[in-house]
Amino acid sequence: MSYGTSSKVKYSPELKRKAAALLELRRRKPAPAGAQAGGGAGGYAPQSPSPAQAAFLALDAREALYGGAAGGGKSSALLMAALQHVHVPGYAALLLRRTYADLSLPGALMDRAADWLRGTDARWNAQTKTWHFPSGATLTFGYLESDNDRYRYQGSELQFVGFDEVTQFTETQYTYLASRLRRPEGMPVPLRLRAASNPGGVGHQWVYERFVAQPTDDRPYIPARLEDNPHLDHASYRESLSLLDSVTRAQLLDGDWTVTRGLLFQRQWFRVVEQAPADVQWVRYWDLAASTKTSADFTACAAVALHEGTLYVRDMIRGRWEWPDQRRVIVQTMQSEPRTRHGIEEALHGLAAVQELRRVPEIAGMALRGIKPEKDKISRALPWSQRAADGKVALVRGPWVSAFLDEVCLFDGQGRTHDDQVDTVSGGVAMVARGGSSAVGAFG
Ligand SMILES: Nc1ncnc2c1ncn2[C@@H]1O[C@H](COP(=O)(O)OP(=O)(O)OP(=O)(O)O)[C@@H](O)[C@H]1O
Ligand SMILES: [Mg+2]
Repeated sequence: MSYGTSSKVKYSPELKRKAAALLELRRRKPAPAGAQAGGGAGGYAPQSPSPAQAAFLALDAREALYGGAAGGGKSSALLMAALQHVHVPGYAALLLRRTYADLSLPGALMDRAADWLRGTDARWNAQTKTWHFPSGATLTFGYLESDNDRYRYQGSELQFVGFDEVTQFTETQYTYLASRLRRPEGMPVPLRLRAASNPGGVGHQWVYERFVAQPTDDRPYIPARLEDNPHLDHASYRESLSLLDSVTRAQLLDGDWTVTRGLLFQRQWFRVVEQAPADVQWVRYWDLAASTKTSADFTACAAVALHEGTLYVRDMIRGRWEWPDQRRVIVQTMQSEPRTRHGIEEALHGLAAVQELRRVPEIAGMALRGIKPEKDKISRALPWSQRAADGKVALVRGPWVSAFLDEVCLFDGQGRTHDDQVDTVSGGVAMVARGGSSAVGAFG
């Protein structure tokens, strides 16, 4: 796989199986309006489910996510799911948004429920925000603005909890509500936690990891796509989404969970300069690939130096080499830059690499040491992220610059995009901080 393509989702066999099932469903003609409504939403939903919505409604797992593109019909699906068992006496469902303002938006869940249920035999209690059904079943709307709000649901006994825009919630809120799922002995309904969401938002990462990264039978993920919803004017919707920035557009239009804004770096923070000042002390930190068999693994090494508060980065050496090819590249680089101080990450085979390199006569006596990487990749990148934000990182012009900027601007420390170029600079910066270029002052 070539550089830059790894931000695409890797589909698990499970997801492929589901996608095939959904495609099969789509090939079939949609049921006539109302035909599925009785079974699908207790007879109270005026909308009949699209094939993807029907797949979501048919799930019997305790947890499930219907997620992806905006306008895919997620909120309607959630409301249909909540209404599925309202004919069962005592059934209690709760639908949540993060804030009261979200909940009461026109067109949002509570408003849509009112459209659907007004004029039926269900009765609304505005004070408790609860619909009461003749069976004694209830559907309540709620919100969880702060973590403490969850205690409002402390005594609740619920058989269905639905989170709309679940990426706006914290995982603590989600798991707390999960603990409210109970049913009286003999009640013939499943216990269900259902979530719907676009990618993005404060909870993006936990939702992605819980459902999308590796969907399982216990936690299925139904991808929502704009095309799944024939009830929307696609052309005008696409046009309005096209005004968004590329990341938000990929999240909302394609339902792409893997694009995220890099957290630590912005392109415009970096200056590109023609050359670095003469006579600075360069250091090189070698981030060695473990194996070229996985697409993530590049060996990377930038030269970095600090001069009057500016960090200079030049000449990224990068390739998919394994030992002993890595040894050849390191020896050649050291020979051609005898004044540069070199460090090698001691993780993986780094320690053995240092020992072996010390015995190579051509580089005898040159500065080379093994370095134990500290903390995590994000913490290591923070010092120079801050310096970059202050406009004090200069890149010495070369063909490497554009790929470097692409990588650092996507870097979010989650290991989902390449990070070898970020790591080598972080390592170099740590070497400088520990006095690797004391001639020009310590890095602070
Ligand atoms: N099965 C259906 N039949 C008829 N109309 C539907 C159906 N599903 C959804 N719609 C309508 O399509 C529009 C978009 O659906 P919905 O709000 O559920 O999508 P969404 O995925 O939640 O969107 P967003 O990402 O903006 O929250 C709404 O007006 C909704 O009423
Ligand atoms: Mg919605």
